[in-house]
Amino acid sequence: MASRKIIMDCDPGIDDAVAMCLAAAYPEEFEFLGITTVAGNQTIEKVTENALRLSSFWKIHAPVAKGAAVPVLREPLTAADVHGGNGMGGVEIPPSGETAAENAVLFIKELVDKLPEGEKVTLVPTGPLTNIALLLRVFPETAERIEEIVLMGGAICGGNITETGEFNIYEDPEAAAIVFDSGLPIVMCGLDATSKCGLKRETANRLAEEKGLASSTVGAMVQFYLNGPAYGGQPRASIHDASTFMYMLHPEIYKSRRMVVRVDCSEGLNRGMTVCDTRRKSNGRPSNTIVLTDADGEKFQEYLLEAVRRMDERMR
Ligand code: RIB
Ligand code: CA
Repeated sequence: MASRKIIMDCDPGIDDAVAMCLAAAYPEEFEFLGITTVAGNQTIEKVTENALRLSSFWKIHAPVAKGAAVPVLREPLTAADVHGGNGMGGVEIPPSGETAAENAVLFIKELVDKLPEGEKVTLVPTGPLTNIALLLRVFPETAERIEEIVLMGGAICGGNITETGEFNIYEDPEAAAIVFDSGLPIVMCGLDATSKCGLKRETANRLAEEKGLASSTVGAMVQFYLNGPAYGGQPRASIHDASTFMYMLHPEIYKSRRMVVRVDCSEGLNRGMTVCDTRRKSNGRPSNTIVLTDADGEKFQEYLLEAVRRMDERMR
C-alpha cells in the first residue's frame, strides 16, 4: 500500500514520543508532512520543544508548528505527574536547533493546500483536539482533503482522568464534539483497546539497559511511567498513543466496531465522556467512527519492540 501522508497533532508526552518512534521506524509507510503541538501533558512551550527535538531525534525531520496553549473553553490541565516536568519523563532528548512555526491551524491549512491534486492527508491527533476543531471551524474546506482522522482518545466504557473521562477528550470536550460531529471518517483508539497495549515492566527494564539509542531512550522514558502515579506497582505501562500508528500498520491485532460517537460537554460526572452508539440508526447520524473495542497486547508489544529495534539500526 502506498505510504500515508501524515500530520501528527500531539502533546509529547512519553507515549506521544513512543508513537513517533513507531511511525519513524516505517518511513515507507508514513510520510510526515508536519507535526503540530497542543497543550496537554505539558504546557505548549514544553510540548513544542519536545516535538522539535523528537522530530530530529527520530529522524522524521518534519516541520513543527505550535498550536493551542489552552482548550476552546475549559481551563488547561497538564499531566506533569505522569509525564514529568519536561514531559519526557526526565529524559533529555538533544535540542534540534530548529524553531517551530507559529500557528498550527494555518500550518495545516497550508500543508493541505499544497497537497498534489487528488491526494489526501491522514491526521493523527494524540492529544486534546483543540487544533483539529479550530481547523475544521476556520477552514472547513480542508475537510475534503482529509483521508481519515486516526486519534487516541475516549473510551466506550470508563475513563482515566475521571470515572468517565479520558484525558484528551476531558481536557477539551467542546473541541472533541466538533471533531466527532464533523462526519469525517474517524478511527477512535480509545482506552478499551489502548489500555491493553504497552510494555511489560521487565521488558522496559531490559530496554533501558540496552546499547541501542532507541531502545535505551524508550526504556528510560517508560521507566518514569512505571515508577509514577499512573503505573506504579503495575506489571505494564500502557503506551496509549502508539495504537494510532500500530492500528495503521497492524489492524489485525485490534477488534473494532463502527459507531456514532458523541461527546458529553456538560460540567460534572460525565464531562468528556464519549457516548458510543451501536444502534444501526443513531438519530440519523452517520456511523462515521471506527471504535477499537479490544487489542492483542502481546502482539502489540512484539511489534513495538520490532519497531524500536529498527530504529536502533537507523540511529546507529
Ligand atoms: O489518556 C491518554 C492520553 O492522554 C495520551 O494521549 C497521553 O499522552 C495523554 O495525552
Ligand atoms: Ca498524548
